[in-house]
Amino acid sequence: MSSKKLYIETYGCQMNFSDSEVVASILSSDGYSLTADIKEADVIFVNTCSIRDNAERRVRNRIQEFKSLKSRKPGLKVGILGCMAERLSDTLLKEETFVDIVAGPDAYRDLPSLIEESITDGRQMANTVLSLEETYADINPVRLDKNGISAFISIMRGCDNYCAYCVVPFTRGHERSREPKSILNEAKDLLDKGYKEITLLGQNVNSYSFKEGDHSVNFALLLQKVAGLSPELRIRFSTSHPKDISDELIETIASTNNICNSIHLPVQSGSTTTLSRMKRSYTREWYLNRINKIKSLIPDCGLSTDIIAGYCGETDEEHQETLSLMKEVGYDYAFMFKYSERPDTLAARKYPDDVPEDIKGRRLQEIIQLQQESSHKNNRNDIGKTFRVLVDNVSKRSDKQMSGRTDQNKVIVFDRKDCTLGDYINVKCTSCTAATLLGEIV
Ligand code: 5AD
Ligand code: SF4
Repeated sequence: MSSKKLYIETYGCQMNFSDSEVVASILSSDGYSLTADIKEADVIFVNTCSIRDNAERRVRNRIQEFKSLKSRKPGLKVGILGCMAERLSDTLLKEETFVDIVAGPDAYRDLPSLIEESITDGRQMANTVLSLEETYADINPVRLDKNGISAFISIMRGCDNYCAYCVVPFTRGHERSREPKSILNEAKDLLDKGYKEITLLGQNVNSYSFKEGDHSVNFALLLQKVAGLSPELRIRFSTSHPKDISDELIETIASTNNICNSIHLPVQSGSTTTLSRMKRSYTREWYLNRINKIKSLIPDCGLSTDIIAGYCGETDEEHQETLSLMKEVGYDYAFMFKYSERPDTLAARKYPDDVPEDIKGRRLQEIIQLQQESSHKNNRNDIGKTFRVLVDNVSKRSDKQMSGRTDQNKVIVFDRKDCTLGDYINVKCTSCTAATLLGEIV
């Protein structure tokens, strides 16, 4: 018996990958099975990202290929999901006439009926209603990861921070936290299936808060509850906002063995005046104070960040402050971007995008160069140390080598000997590049 086939392609952040697993679950309850072969598909979904203009352009180009697939297979349905669906539904329906379905991040339960109606009516269907409650708490995601070792759990949706440059609050709506019980059940289920690592996801996980009777569960408490399920389960989380990284949370990470010593703390800029134009609600000093607290309580903590180069009105001095902050923190890793103006955001309405493209490019290059040096320096400091590593991959270069990640979230490559995927092993670091550690099992 042949079931209807669904093909999903996902762009953007980890949250989108996690949402695609929810979508896969909703459609499998509706009789669909997943396929990795697009030519076999009866329905193609693209889960999209709007964070920067180039992310949107990539998807607009990619979906033209679905148009030609559709001309060869008339019954094929094409749906655009996620942030671009939310932000550009009218444009997509008008300009991409081959698109059948447009569904925003809070409308995924409606997908089976959107498909059904599109089949029976032959009309384009859209649902971009944002919700104050939807967390998909009762949906058991179909895991789309390949290795069965590491999985994501979304613990909240949306964002209320309205950073001036950011489109997320407009595309993903208001912040809402998911009930702890449903998060714990999902984590238990993963543990039973043999998963070893769980990453708790949200736009701003450290503002997680759920009222239970007369008390509320905050992020530090939730972390403890998930970590308490098993010492064999590693817990990570992403992303944190510097304004909410409390002493209590840092102490919880420090005192709980299986909460990984790795914090992703997006700084965006090292200049207080730029941060104020970004509406980030903290200063350079506040941020450095948080970093110092982390370093004093968790001396071996892995630190990573996000940085935007060439934000509106950024002067050369302000850019230099970003470089000096990077030197002071000494990040292990950074995601670095050129500022991209997003329609309707506060920055687009209030501040001209006035840093010339060549200067943006030069500043970004300086930031990347400095980060490369910092990563390499930190990696060199790891030589001689022994790490507990969760083996999660066969090395790309040779199947005689495996790779895994340290507690600090660094990739380390080593000769496989007799270890297998999913093992915890001790690996001594013997050398490194700027991007990876190399080592041997001890
Ligand atoms: N331009 C460039 N980078 C952006 N980010 C968010 N919005 C923009 C934008 N308009 C970056 C921030 C954020 C990361 C997910 O993407 O650094 O932390
Ligand atoms: Fe965007 Fe700021 Fe919310 Fe992050 S915290 S998603 S940067 S608005």
